[in-house]
This record gives sequence, C-alpha cells and structure tokens, in this order.
Amino acid sequence: MAKPTKKTARGRAAPDLAKVGPGELLTLLDFVRYAVSRFVEAKLSFAHGTTDPVAEAAFLVCEALHLNPDQFEIFANARVSAAEGKTLLDLIHQRVTTRKPAAYLVNKIYMRGLPFYVDERVIVPRSFIGELLESHFGADGEAGSLIDDPTAVERVLDLCTGSGCLAILAAHHFPNAAIDAVDISKGALEVAARNVGEYGLEDRISLYRGDLFAPLGGNRYDLIITNPPYVDAEGMAALPPECRAEPKLAFDGGADGLDVVRRILRDAPDHLTPDGGLICEIGRGRELVDEAFPELPLLWLDTEDSEGEVFWIAAADLG
Ligand SMILES: C[S@@+](CC[C@H](N)C(=O)[O-])C[C@H]1O[C@@H](n2cnc3c(N)ncnc32)[C@H](O)[C@@H]1O
Repeated sequence: MAKPTKKTARGRAAPDLAKVGPGELLTLLDFVRYAVSRFVEAKLSFAHGTTDPVAEAAFLVCEALHLNPDQFEIFANARVSAAEGKTLLDLIHQRVTTRKPAAYLVNKIYMRGLPFYVDERVIVPRSFIGELLESHFGADGEAGSLIDDPTAVERVLDLCTGSGCLAILAAHHFPNAAIDAVDISKGALEVAARNVGEYGLEDRISLYRGDLFAPLGGNRYDLIITNPPYVDAEGMAALPPECRAEPKLAFDGGADGLDVVRRILRDAPDHLTPDGGLICEIGRGRELVDEAFPELPLLWLDTEDSEGEVFWIAAADLG
C-alpha cells in the first residue's frame, strides 16, 4: 500500500524529512546545502533579512547552532552532533511547512550588524532607513549629509517602531539624542521594550502606545524617522505566505497604501523643530506620493538595494 502523503496546513505535500538517514548529513555545509535544496524545491520567498536561499539557509543553520552567520565559512566543514542535526532538520522542515521567515524560527535578526529579538508580534526588521542613517546623517556620510553633526541632534522620534530596531540604531547614531518611539500595537511594544532593555537604552528611549503622534502632546523633534504601513489593497492581497506570518497592521496602508503616510505628512510640521526633518519609507509608491503631494520638494534617497523607496523632507519645506 502506498504511504499516505503528509499534508501541510496549506494543503501542499510536506517533504518527507525521514528520508534523510542518520549520518547522511555531516557538516554545517551539508545541512546548508540540504536546506537550500528544500527551500528552492518549495519555492519559498526570501525578504526577511536575507534575499536568497543560500543566505537564508546559512542564517538558519548558524543561528540554531549559536554561531554568528558571519562565521559560517570558518565552520562550514565542522561536523554537527546528532542532537544538533535533529534540531537543524526540524527547523528546515518548519521553514518549508509553516512558511514562517527564518527570523521567527530562531527569534533573531541582524540589522546593520546588530542583533534584535523578534517574534510574530512584530514585522521582521528590514527597513532601508537603517542604512540611510549611516550614509546620509553624519559628517562622513558618503552620499552627502542631511544632518552634518549627529552629536547635535537632541530629540528623535521613531513613529511606528515595531521591534524598536530603528529607535535603537538611531540611539547609536545620535549619541546625545533622547528618543521617543511610538507604536499602536501592545505586542510590538513588548518586543521593543525587550530590545531596548537588551541594549541597556531604557534611559534614552521612551516607548509610547498610541496612534501616530497622539501620545506625544506637543513634543517637537530634530528628526522624525518612520517606516509606516504602506502596502496598498492589491499588494495586501498578493503578500507571500512569509509576509502573511507577520502582523497585518505592519503592512496595511489602506486602498492606495498612503492612509498612514498622508496623516504623517499632515501632522509632522507640528512635531518638528524649525531645522528638523522627516525621513519616511514608502516602498514602491513613489509615483503616487509625488502625484499626491506635488507641492512638496521630497528628496528621494537610494540605498544599496533600493531606489526611491524612502524620502526626506526638511521641516522648512513641509510648511
Ligand atoms: C512596517 S512596520 C515598521 C516596524 C519597524 N519600524 C521596522 O522598521 O521594522 C509598521 C509598524 O507600524 C505600526 N502601526 C501601524 N499603524 C500605526 C498607527 N496608526 N500608529 C502607530 N503605529 C502604527 C505597526 O504596529 C507596525 O509595528
């Protein structure tokens, strides 16, 4: 009699990992190679801190073994113990069958080289703003500077903070700044509080729960950073399973994706200092934003992996 096929929750046949016999996979490299084969076979999506199956597999294998993914090459030919091998096969299996991003399976992601705790209460950090803080907000920024002296920045606001990753990167980049960080989600703020605590930044980063600027009274900031929800209705309907494992609230920007961005642009002038500015990620909606706000001289910023997905506007130009 034919063996019954295991079905996943989504109705696809699950790979039969029992076909990996004891001792068939020996080294880290063997497990990474095996994971890549399974990931490609299952047509997974990669957009959560890694952008291809090899990087995703190396990340998952290394993190599960408590190694920094940067150390993969050093340990590639090292043997894995039987117990470790079982853990790795289980994680590879979970990645394929649940379609959860690897970062959720190991509760960790790196952004600009810094580790952050993550779970399903927050989107997996991948904002381009992390890179832009380094490239555009310092005297030695390669691409010309929007704020020449990071030490002179006194107050920063991170709107829609999620895991708190951008607030924490900002705290490192602007060493004298007090940072407020807002999110509407209680769960996200719990994760942010954990990350702020792990970096010992409780004295510099204050977390607020509420709708955009609502919990901040009349506070004004030298810099507002925001990676708000900006996916339009069409994009929401087409999100890959990996993104559907993340909070809907982190993506949903209404019919045209700009519901939250419009409110931020409307209210930001009341919360910026005269020499301040706003940096906002909006994904692929640049044309729409340019059409919706023709009067605003938005400066579109590029990163290594993105073109025109983030804009900067000085307080003076916001009116
Ligand atoms: C795209 S995620 C960004 C998270 C984080 N800043 C990052 O870059 O990884 C957007 C976040 O905005 C939060 N959010 C959505 N609507 C909001 C609102 N009206 N006010 C405050 N936060 C909101 C969501 O809970 C989510 O954590």
